[in-house]
Amino acid sequence: MPAIYAYAPGKVILTGEHAVVYGRPAIAVPVHEVRVRAAIQANPTDSKGTVHILAPDISLDTVLNDMPADHPMSIIFREVQKELGIEHLPALTLTVTSTIPIAAGLGSGAAISVAISRVLSSFLGAPLPEESISRIAFETDHFYHGTPSGIDNTVISYGRMVFFIRGKPIEMLANPLAFTLVIADSGKKSLTGKVVHDLRTRVEIDPARYQAIFDRSEIISRSAREAIEQGDHTRLGTLLSDNHFLLQQLAVSTAHLDLLVKTAMEAGALGAKLSGAGCGGNIIALVDANSAKSIASALRSAGAVNTIITTVPRS
Ligand code: MEV
Repeated sequence: MPAIYAYAPGKVILTGEHAVVYGRPAIAVPVHEVRVRAAIQANPTDSKGTVHILAPDISLDTVLNDMPADHPMSIIFREVQKELGIEHLPALTLTVTSTIPIAAGLGSGAAISVAISRVLSSFLGAPLPEESISRIAFETDHFYHGTPSGIDNTVISYGRMVFFIRGKPIEMLANPLAFTLVIADSGKKSLTGKVVHDLRTRVEIDPARYQAIFDRSEIISRSAREAIEQGDHTRLGTLLSDNHFLLQQLAVSTAHLDLLVKTAMEAGALGAKLSGAGCGGNIIALVDANSAKSIASALRSAGAVNTIITTVPRS
């Protein structure tokens, strides 16, 4: 029997990270240039029904029954089986590979969950809808950090730009004019759980100060939505840069992230900001498609360890 495959893209947050954890809106886009691939091969000769899991990128070679119950892998299998009402799995080998950098703000954890839920439900003969796939990825995101807003699993499951408010119905954004982003990796790991937790401690000490910053972030995300829907990229760029300023005030930027943002602007970007939890990870720069390569090159000269050029298509 041939193996079956499923994929999930990476993501970047365009505006509103952190504020989204506190109920404010944020905008995220999928990044299809990087992805997780999950493959399942049936093992009909294995009468014991072993579920073998291989993830060569992280040197994982194990059996499902040996994994702790709260491990994301265990959660995914349990949730998919629950959704489909399947108690016993046939013997199989799941192989997961990924080109999404880990702990870089590109949603690798959620993408792994989405790709596995997709391939497993297809393998079991009943591919789950996006809504269920997203819910399962949300469950597993708790493993990576305690209080996920749900934006990562949503944008990655649906594979489209989303305007997201925690607990509200998902809104897909119309995009009359394609735009280009350069994503640049600072090379320092961004540990979402820790950054979100540390920020929460600061918020609890001085709630009024932080709620005011989150209110400004809300205005930026709502204005960015308008700018996108009007195809006004100059305004969108300014809003991204304004958002970076707020993220600096939240103390989630670093000297290197600030340098990368400055470098992108000096090289001609329309706007730039850190993206994701921060304290490492990536910056994004909104650029004119013709200058994307030269801006990416300037960012690598300023110490970015990797750059990705992605286009958010018309929709
Ligand atoms: C992570 O991609 C974005 C954060 O806002 C955390 C979250 O929304 O769960 C930092």
